[in-house]
Amino acid sequence: MKKIIINGGRQLRGDISVSGMKNAALPIIFACILTEDKCTLENVPDVTDVNLSLKILEDMGAVVIRTGGGTITVDTKKLAGQTSRQDLVSRLRASTYLLGAELGRFGEAKVGFSGGCDFGVRPIDQHIKGFEALGAKAGVESGLNHVVAGPGGLRGGSVYLDIASVGATINVMLAAVKAEGRTTIDNAAREPHIVDLANFLNMCGARITGAGTSFIKITGVEKLHGCSYTIIPDMIEAGTYMVAAAAAGGRVRVKGVIPKHMETVTAKLIEMGAGVDEGDDCLTVSRSSRLSSVNIKTFFYPGFPTDMHPQFAALLAMADGTSIITEGVFDNRFRYADELAKMNADINVAGRTATIIGKKELCGAPVTAVDLRAGAALIIAGLAASGMTEISRIETIERGYDDIVGKLSGIGADIRLIDDGL
Ligand code: UD1
Repeated sequence: MKKIIINGGRQLRGDISVSGMKNAALPIIFACILTEDKCTLENVPDVTDVNLSLKILEDMGAVVIRTGGGTITVDTKKLAGQTSRQDLVSRLRASTYLLGAELGRFGEAKVGFSGGCDFGVRPIDQHIKGFEALGAKAGVESGLNHVVAGPGGLRGGSVYLDIASVGATINVMLAAVKAEGRTTIDNAAREPHIVDLANFLNMCGARITGAGTSFIKITGVEKLHGCSYTIIPDMIEAGTYMVAAAAAGGRVRVKGVIPKHMETVTAKLIEMGAGVDEGDDCLTVSRSSRLSSVNIKTFFYPGFPTDMHPQFAALLAMADGTSIITEGVFDNRFRYADELAKMNADINVAGRTATIIGKKELCGAPVTAVDLRAGAALIIAGLAASGMTEISRIETIERGYDDIVGKLSGIGADIRLIDDGL
């Protein structure tokens, strides 16, 4: 079994680079299905979720070439529809994007149920509502989600999302780019990865405007073509390293970021008493004295990202005073609290709220990464804690962090990956 071992208490110093955004790379990889052509993607992170997505496409007949340094080409000319492998699909949430992409290309999608982190129920009713607005019929058949375009193919329609869902916005965009006529998505998600997907699709010949606002307009085109595209930097990875620097102390320059995407994280770190200096494409985080408590409410972008609250919970567990984190997106995202408690954190969870009473210090312990960002929180806690932290189930962390152990070692952390062969 692979584990991460951390000897805590060392300050972090130096530069750390951010990889491409997992949550942008995933929809863009599935969007390649719509192009029926060769696409070159750059700055693709080397993480399990991305590699699984590429494997799903390869199994469907795509030709994927990894040229190294984060560049891949994906050629979907010879793709066969509705043949994705359920054992792979069930391992990641982003496989739901096969629904929109297959529907857009073949007029029909049959895809198994997706997986991903367990944050409580993660329905896809809004995705389905969007497909239906384009004239498709949807149902569940033999354990697969089955969506079929109406006679004559998909037609543009008006979609109002009850929730500004990232996944539903992406899936409707994928289905609509080649539908006949105009589609509008109201109450669309505004996350940077929605904009990145729209930019990629527009480079391939799509006609999408308004991405990044809550009203997206898509005028269907007959055909898309391949393109070369560079994925944006991962704001959650960047935020994780910013919080790690604040937790362990020292001075770290997080390079290759879009500072605008980091505003909520930067603001909270400054409110806690950390130093954050902004450059054109970097943020330098420093801490020389103890931090103080803050309250955090997560919400859809541009609100505070739900994917950053576990990391902040670890930091707040070592800050002076009492903090409250309120989760505004998912039903159950505090499963990591019991793990942080093993490291001496005082976190009391009630429904969607966690009350954190800061301790003078955390102590190392054997803990389990219950999901991706929970794993990142344990790494942050381990970097600052006294003694040794041993994190198991690190495959959850490898789903979304490109070489996190190597990158943190590079700025002075005593962290290593072991495989005890069990
Ligand atoms: C994506 C991200 C995830 C991030 C989340 C919120 C990927 C692969 N994952 O997940 O890292 O935490 O956005 O920023 O990009 N909902 C419904 N019905 C639907 C769809 C969603 O009720 O049809 C609810 C969900 O249960 C959840 C909320 O809406 O409570 C937000 O979900 P959504 O934005 O869709 O998140 P994901 O796309 O699953």
